[in-house]
Amino acid sequence: MPGICREAPSCPILDAVTASSPATSRSTLTFPDGFSWGTATASFQIEGATDVDGRTDSIWDTFCRVPGAIAGGHTGEPACDHYRRMPEDVALMAHLGLDTYRFSVAWPRVRPDGGAVNPAGVDFYSRLVDELLEHGISPWVTLYHWDLPQTLEDAGGWTNRDTAYRFAEYTSTVYDALGDRVPTWTTFNEPWCSAFLGYAAGAHAPGRTEPRAAVAAIHHLLLAHGLGIEALRAAGAEQVGITLNLTPCSAAHPDDPADADVLRRIDGLHNRVFLDPIFRGEYPPDVAEDLAPFGLGDHIRDGDLALISAPIDVLGVNYYSTAHVEAQPPTPGEEDLQALPWAVGVDVVRNVSRDLPRTAMGWEIEPDGLRRLLVRLHTEYPAIPLVITENGSAWDDSVGPDGEIDDPERVDYLRAHLAAAHAAIDEGVDLRGYLAWSLLDNFEWAYGYYKRFGIVRVDYDTQLRTPKSSAKVYAEIARDNAL
Ligand code: FCB
Repeated sequence: MPGICREAPSCPILDAVTASSPATSRSTLTFPDGFSWGTATASFQIEGATDVDGRTDSIWDTFCRVPGAIAGGHTGEPACDHYRRMPEDVALMAHLGLDTYRFSVAWPRVRPDGGAVNPAGVDFYSRLVDELLEHGISPWVTLYHWDLPQTLEDAGGWTNRDTAYRFAEYTSTVYDALGDRVPTWTTFNEPWCSAFLGYAAGAHAPGRTEPRAAVAAIHHLLLAHGLGIEALRAAGAEQVGITLNLTPCSAAHPDDPADADVLRRIDGLHNRVFLDPIFRGEYPPDVAEDLAPFGLGDHIRDGDLALISAPIDVLGVNYYSTAHVEAQPPTPGEEDLQALPWAVGVDVVRNVSRDLPRTAMGWEIEPDGLRRLLVRLHTEYPAIPLVITENGSAWDDSVGPDGEIDDPERVDYLRAHLAAAHAAIDEGVDLRGYLAWSLLDNFEWAYGYYKRFGIVRVDYDTQLRTPKSSAKVYAEIARDNAL
């Protein structure tokens, strides 16, 4: 049978967990009672089945057809074939003893072309939610993880204010179908990526390279978040929020006024441009000034910021790395997508390497950045429960002769970041959970299937799932609620 744990129903992960030493002999860091342990995925990255049951194209289907856009010419097929193998994947989570699963809903499945509701598409997510609940796993819905219906992009996408209202309609559709069973709702995953990578850098769908469009997208994504929250609240949702990718930034020479200024700008564009409207009801004045030449003010209407800053119940934090900048022109051809200042006219920011170890993505590994980020959110913004909704690492995994995948680097990354999260809790941060990115190896956007983030390996030819060593370690941590 195509399946989980290769030797199901006796699961090697569970066996290993059962056989391992008692928690007290090796654990020193205990997490608070009720701390959530889970994984996260995204629809386009795992589902496959892109043209079945009424689904229409998203911007990612279209982008995948652009020659050179995706490494290897890879596409959303087959991904992890999760659309067809969903029950096995839920059983795998249960075998790992995880209690939470954050997944995203594909807008073009439930409202193809952004139009009428498609019952077959809705039904997939309804079955997924039931399956999770039957296995004792709490479902956590992300409404938008980047797969905008292409038809809506054709009408301007996130540069068009109307897309925000379409998002609110779509939100109501999904809540009507799943709201009776799903406790936690996230409007957007990483609007920074949608706006900057999608509309300024052209590295993500829809592949546009228009800084003014990116700035319009920032505001319309935030507006859509606000309208989505309004729709969710009206329908009775109690646990709502957004997930941001936040990047701790530092300057190479903090006492140099030029470096201090680029630090301010980069922190503004990475972090404060989203945090401040949501939690303070205003764009940071300095960022608004930086973005004025790109037309930010043209998009803001009366009442928008009140909607955007409506109270939320949880902030999802995605953390992968940090930025260390200096006021120098970027190396030609190596403009850093993590910093992306040039896209909005800041042409003297270079990301400085600190010779830290790097993952297979080339991202520097700095676990203490996670602690600093969480503490900053705790001290600079109003009190709100935080959950790490993504954290993880890609490595060039190899399969041993016995078919097993030993991934000590991923284990080290996981443990180091959990230790940093624990340190933040010790400093008073209200951190409620950790969702590893990702359950499965999957379609890593512009990198195609070349970059593997899963704690479970996927063989894309056979769709065999094989838990890696990191899955075993993670299962133990979740079981013990301790590191
Ligand atoms: C995040 C995305 C997620 C995945 C990880 C590696 O930015 O939200 O889909 O690609 O990076």
